[in-house]
Amino acid sequence: MIKFDFCVSNPAFNISEENNKAGTGGNTTLYKKATNHAFNLLKEEGCLVNITLKGIISDLLGKKYSKYQTHFINLMDDVDVWPYNTCYFMLQKIARSKEVKFKGGLASKLYKVKESQCFPFVYYSGSNNIMKGFSTTGKNKVIRKLPGKNNNNVVYDYTDLEVASGWKFAFNVMESKKSYYVTNEPIRGGTICYIPTDTKEEAEKLKLFVEKNHVFENYIKRTKLKYHAFGIRNIKRFDLSQIKDGTEVPLEWKLKQIHLREPKSLLNENEDNIFKVKTQGQVYTPKALVNKVLDDIEKVNPTAFSDPSYTFCDTMCGNGRFLCEILDRKLKNGIDPHTAVKTIYGVELDKDSVTECIDNLCNIAKQDFDKIKENIVNSDTFEYDFSFNSTFSYNNA
Ligand SMILES: C[S@@+](CC[C@H](N)C(=O)[O-])C[C@H]1O[C@@H](n2cnc3c(N)ncnc32)[C@H](O)[C@@H]1O
Repeated sequence: MIKFDFCVSNPAFNISEENNKAGTGGNTTLYKKATNHAFNLLKEEGCLVNITLKGIISDLLGKKYSKYQTHFINLMDDVDVWPYNTCYFMLQKIARSKEVKFKGGLASKLYKVKESQCFPFVYYSGSNNIMKGFSTTGKNKVIRKLPGKNNNNVVYDYTDLEVASGWKFAFNVMESKKSYYVTNEPIRGGTICYIPTDTKEEAEKLKLFVEKNHVFENYIKRTKLKYHAFGIRNIKRFDLSQIKDGTEVPLEWKLKQIHLREPKSLLNENEDNIFKVKTQGQVYTPKALVNKVLDDIEKVNPTAFSDPSYTFCDTMCGNGRFLCEILDRKLKNGIDPHTAVKTIYGVELDKDSVTECIDNLCNIAKQDFDKIKENIVNSDTFEYDFSFNSTFSYNNA
């Protein structure tokens, strides 16, 4: 098995029910599988660059990868590029010695993961059809509680108990502003979120804040969160006494004008094949976004594309969006095409995309076609042995 200096992993974020074989979908577990898989392909000191769901962030900061160096997590709210609403990060297989840097726009100031930095947030998700309503009289049934016990992400918590009494700002996660309310009654049923508070006044201020605050609204829009108040789960906690009519910008956020700049629109030149988008999560990364990611890599490792020995593998390479730009940068840095193509590897499930990827790389390198064909493999990335010895190669597929 070959191991790499850099792995790129960009599974997909499109959700399709029958999509699970692609190891992608919108399912956090499958995204994590793709991340783990690519991480395991790294050499010691190698780097993983991953476009993925924000659900992975707690693994990077405090769980599975906490002993390794995450250089940055880019929350991508400074760019608007259809249909991305994810993040990307760079994780290196070395011991963590530096703080993890959050990049992006407004979100880089507001977004927090540690519970101690956020408002206490309780999330009960209805997991059966009887529980559709957000009713105070309805029957309690099965509820699922997040976050789970013992640091698991999900715990199915079958119970008939009422959700605690005490003042709270509550809302139904499936609805927007019309479901926001303040209560000290226990809550029953439904898919519920709430923030417990000490007083009624505090709960009312939270409600006012999520209804009226323009900066918060902007943050929700930029991070493409579907449900409005849900965003309060991961924002930096602030003192509620400064909130009067809801429009006040919390001082704790220390915002500057630069953080409020409108996101830059990045062109998505791809004409995606809707069938493949649905069945395989085949959303290719637009060139502008690829280059943004590669620029971020270069800021961390200035020789990433000029050191001729560095190897790169895109574990689900599509038609080679990343690989082509990487090859291009290597050539522009004066590395000869023969040396450069030997360092570029990709695996892809879809045969047509493999053909396209090989063609695209050949067009850039203008030589060493056999080596390119050997290094771009048509296979299920989770099944492949990463030997690149032609067993699975394009010629034989
Ligand atoms: C979001 S696209 C990314 C493609 C490319 N890396 C890019 O950034 O443009 C995901 C790709 O993963 C491929 N794919 C999905 N499941 C795969 C698997 N199990 N093995 C290999 N490729 C897979 C899809 O066919 C699709 O081309």
